[in-house]
Amino acid sequence: MSAKIIDGKLIAAKVQEEVRLGVAKMKAEKDYVPGLATVRVGQNPASATYVRMKQKMCEKLGLRSIGRELPETATQEEVMTLVKALNADPEVNGILVQLPLPNHIDEEAVLGSIDIEKDVDGFHPVNIGRLAMKGRDPLFVPCTPAGCMRLLKESGVQISGAEAVIVGRSNIVGLPMAMLLQKANATVTICHSRTRDLVEHVRNADIVVAAIGRTEMITGDMLKPGATVIDVGINQKDDDTRPRGYRLVGDVDFDSAKEVAGAITPVPGGVGPMTIAMLMENTLRAAEIAVNK
Ligand code: GUN
Repeated sequence: MSAKIIDGKLIAAKVQEEVRLGVAKMKAEKDYVPGLATVRVGQNPASATYVRMKQKMCEKLGLRSIGRELPETATQEEVMTLVKALNADPEVNGILVQLPLPNHIDEEAVLGSIDIEKDVDGFHPVNIGRLAMKGRDPLFVPCTPAGCMRLLKESGVQISGAEAVIVGRSNIVGLPMAMLLQKANATVTICHSRTRDLVEHVRNADIVVAAIGRTEMITGDMLKPGATVIDVGINQKDDDTRPRGYRLVGDVDFDSAKEVAGAITPVPGGVGPMTIAMLMENTLRAAEIAVNK
């Protein structure tokens, strides 16, 4: 049996189209264009690529994009001063501080200084706290986990009552993903580097979310037949047949997993395109909060 492939590109295109229409409607009815500010500190090349992709998507969907860059040597005060200026700027609806920040910058303090109504990344402690607690809802949900949830929902996967295993406990993906699945009434297990028997947990899972950052670590023989597999990993694997000498693969060994899983996201073209689409959706919602005030 070969799994159904969950097409992240197609589902992301649907989200993008919804956002494009929402932006056009806001412009026509309120004469207001949503704006996303991106903040980059230092010269991390991967961060530069990600921020550029976010800015391009803003342009494509009709949002205003405001790019701010600080040098690697920027002080805590300089970063916080910039965030405060963006908090006060009425043309800025969403503020995205690209992570990781340089080591000398206190990430928690920076993320906590973002106005929660502009926290389109969903990393403000109040938004994360609300996500963690029963009966409370955050204003914004972190984009990659929000994208994974959208993929599950669009694919008709039963979440309520399902056994869900998340491999990885990062602040950006694993932890918020666990909280979202739990809010959606799954029974959630978080596995990590100290988990004693990873295979036993994964084999029990109806939904597996792989977010460890280890090349093709989850293999088909570890899965329960029919499980849904969401692969958040993006890793470079040596491949001499490619012009760059590598290709992108996930944290799941796609070829073996697709023979056992019921549904699976590919890499690339699965979770990846969803992250930016959800950021655009969050920014449109932030603008709606602002114009309805
Ligand atoms: N770095 C890796 N993923 C993300 C993300 O979703 N948001 C931000 N701000 N930084 C990241």
